[in-house]
Amino acid sequence: MENVTVMREQAMQWIKEASAYIHDSFQSALTIDTKSNASDLVTNIDQEVEKLFINRIRVAYPEHAIVGEEGFGDEIERTDGYVWVIDPIDGTMNFIHQQRNFAISLALYIDGKGVFGIVYDVAANDMYYAISGEGAYMNGTKIARVEEGYLEQAVVSVNATWLTENRRLDHEKIAQLVRRARGTRSYGCAALEMMYVVTGKLDAYMTPRLAPWDFAAGAIMANEVGVIATTLKGEPLSILHKSGLLIARRGVHEDMLTNYIVCKE
Ligand code: IPD
Ligand code: CA
Ligand code: CA
Repeated sequence: MENVTVMREQAMQWIKEASAYIHDSFQSALTIDTKSNASDLVTNIDQEVEKLFINRIRVAYPEHAIVGEEGFGDEIERTDGYVWVIDPIDGTMNFIHQQRNFAISLALYIDGKGVFGIVYDVAANDMYYAISGEGAYMNGTKIARVEEGYLEQAVVSVNATWLTENRRLDHEKIAQLVRRARGTRSYGCAALEMMYVVTGKLDAYMTPRLAPWDFAAGAIMANEVGVIATTLKGEPLSILHKSGLLIARRGVHEDMLTNYIVCKE
């Protein structure tokens, strides 16, 4: 097996390269398209950054599989072997509207198990990473283990959409959750919201609609600090399937899952 630390450092170099490219793009006009609906946005920069990662990985590790949001990688049906999972820009709407609160998310899995995950907050220059079994780090400093907590003292990240009638969740239960929690926030970037839970800035983040590239790196980070990351049904996350996500400190995760999250599908 290749040396995981070397691969993680190499991946961080590629992320720095991509970040410089993204910063340069702030000076020029973006090409913006929509995908599945009018709010599902993609820009030329999302696509070019994904291609940058894929080119680098293909040169260094031609036999590895790559799953990327923008579709320039491989379609995989099994988790065997080395699989890179990439979201070139997580939080594209923020990237377009705010030029902040968006991230690059990159993870390596072997035989379905997380090996390392990196999330880079491009505008803030915050680098989060974890190697499985070796702890999680933010800007080179080890992140402390996250302790058990209570919903009454929790700041929960949830998008206001899920408080309105929708086909995925019982919105009235989510309204009860919001009333019981200490406060709520929403940042529009799943990978960063996961990092905020991992670093204790948030106590929980939930959403019914994510894809493997959104959570692949964050799930590895969570595991290293004792934060629980599952689907909204409490099942393990998989890099093969889209799913909801509940990431929270112990105690809060259990309370939300048992008492407030009622999936309609
Ligand atoms: C989206 C963001 C957003 C989440 C969406 C994701 P994208 O990713 O993480 O916060 O609510 O479900 O699809 O499309 O900006 O990479
Ligand atoms: Ca994403
Ligand atoms: Ca994306």
